[in-house]
Amino acid sequence: MKCRVLSALLLPALACAHNVQLHARQSTTADENSAALSNANTATATSVLPSTVTFPLISENPTAVPLSEINTGAAQTQSTIAISTTYAGGSKPTWIPDAPALPPSLPIPTNYPKLDVTPPTDSDEAKQWIQEVMNSGVYIPDIAPTNPGGCGNNTAVLANTSSSGTCWWTCGGCTRSTDVSVCPTKNSWGVSYDDGPSPYTPNLLQYFDQEDIRATFFAIGSRIISRPAILQDEYMTGNQIAVHTWSHPYMTTKTTEQVIVELAWTKKVIKDTLGVTPIYWRPPYGDIDDRVRAISQALNLIPILWTRISPTQTFDTNDWSIPEGSVNVYEVLDNWELIMGNSTKIDTGFIVLEHDLFEQTVDVATGYILPQALAHQPKYNMTPIIECLDMPLANAYLETNDNSSHPLPLATVTPVSSSSASGAGASSTGSSSSGDGKSGSSSSSASSSSQSSGSGSLMVVSPVLLSVAIGAAAAVATLFL
Ligand SMILES: *[C@@H]1O[C@H](CO)[C@@H](O)[C@H](O)[C@H]1NC(C)=O
Ligand SMILES: *[C@@H]1O[C@H](CO)[C@@H](O)[C@H](O)[C@H]1NC(C)=O
Ligand SMILES: *[C@@H]1O[C@H](CO)[C@@H](O)[C@H](O)[C@H]1NC(C)=O
Ligand SMILES: *[C@@H]1O[C@H](CO)[C@@H](O)[C@H](O)[C@H]1NC(C)=O
Ligand SMILES: [Zn+2]
Repeated sequence: MKCRVLSALLLPALACAHNVQLHARQSTTADENSAALSNANTATATSVLPSTVTFPLISENPTAVPLSEINTGAAQTQSTIAISTTYAGGSKPTWIPDAPALPPSLPIPTNYPKLDVTPPTDSDEAKQWIQEVMNSGVYIPDIAPTNPGGCGNNTAVLANTSSSGTCWWTCGGCTRSTDVSVCPTKNSWGVSYDDGPSPYTPNLLQYFDQEDIRATFFAIGSRIISRPAILQDEYMTGNQIAVHTWSHPYMTTKTTEQVIVELAWTKKVIKDTLGVTPIYWRPPYGDIDDRVRAISQALNLIPILWTRISPTQTFDTNDWSIPEGSVNVYEVLDNWELIMGNSTKIDTGFIVLEHDLFEQTVDVATGYILPQALAHQPKYNMTPIIECLDMPLANAYLETNDNSSHPLPLATVTPVSSSSASGAGASSTGSSSSGDGKSGSSSSSASSSSQSSGSGSLMVVSPVLLSVAIGAAAAVATLFL
């Protein structure tokens, strides 16, 4: 049904299938959103979605789509707009000193794998990337791919508490010090949008231009092939571009070879479109464990999640569930109001999950979420995530990264034997006792002071990222002590 509506909007049929698949929920929890689950449960219990917002809207966007017209389920029929500028090959971004020029031409789709499916692992490119990972010196833990179906279908691996287990973020909230999930400075918001480029992304970019906002876009490789000029516009107007995989799978369910091609093809298409290679990525649904972390490190990618304040609560607007119909725009705005409330209680800044994929998610962002954020007191410092980590945009890309102050993930690898590689430095928030936050914090500090002695290849991180992780643990401790 969703498919038909999207087809009516002249989206390619494949993109239509993509939308539906992307956001078909798995039945139990390996889900982008634990808050969504509790919302969904509440909605089931009461069988009604709210019909109004429960707080006063402190700022109005005069051109906002009225809330009553942002429907659940089917997309609306508003027209999309064209991007503001198309860029000639050879153009240089003004936001990054000494950045390479844009490539002479846009990528040709037939040179890339298919839309929406994990690329083959036996192509020449795949073989080369797999070899590179094997040669990287990064130890890939021998953790089996998880079963599809989320936490509830993986009881054996989750019951294994003999060590910190596999440190699976979606199921229990475990983080490693290499994960970015907050901005270090209070009231700074590392703004991000996932799953584009989409036909609605230009509407978001127009609002960004009007209000002088920049963000991080976690882009899907196979969508970039469909809309490379939109990605160029994002990049050239000062936004950060990061990897969000080729086909948006639950990465822990994939084999190591499949994880490699999902990440490497997306890096490649971004390089082919922009001339730069991202060094940050976000796992779809936050689905990352120690095996997927290690593979991403071997590919020079640093994971970015979003802010978690308890084992069951993350800063997720749940905007992506509007088209699916389990949540409506009023509930998303209530979620946003709660996030803003919580943002003032934690000691760090924060990162929120939002999407530029659907018309409704862009309408709610430009009409309501961003205007509320701009009017927030105390004022939020809204930037791309790389900048909220106190780094220049240049550090978001391999070619322009300052390698001395921000070592690339691969530059820090000390090969270790398999027996010592697992476990060190977990900061699991999987159990609800407040002691966890504290021990997470002290174990992060411990790995900080013993960094040079090598507490496992996964644990060797830049001081900036380490302090972010410590901040996150501290924030959790603050809330739950
Ligand atoms: C649970 O995992 C098994 C084994 O991989 C799989 O066959 C089954 O389809 C999964 N169940 C769900 C609900 O996804
Ligand atoms: C439990 O985890 C440990 C450490 O990660 C691992 O060595 C062991 O094989 C696991 N046991 C099971 C039953 O999965
Ligand atoms: C934020 O804080 C409130 C309590 O004020 C809580 O009820 C709510 O669920 C929290 N969650 C999120 C994700 O913001
Ligand atoms: C940082 O290192 C990478 C990989 O070795 C290199 O391509 C890049 O040019 C370096 N950055 C700078 C600013 O020299
Ligand atoms: Zn996503």
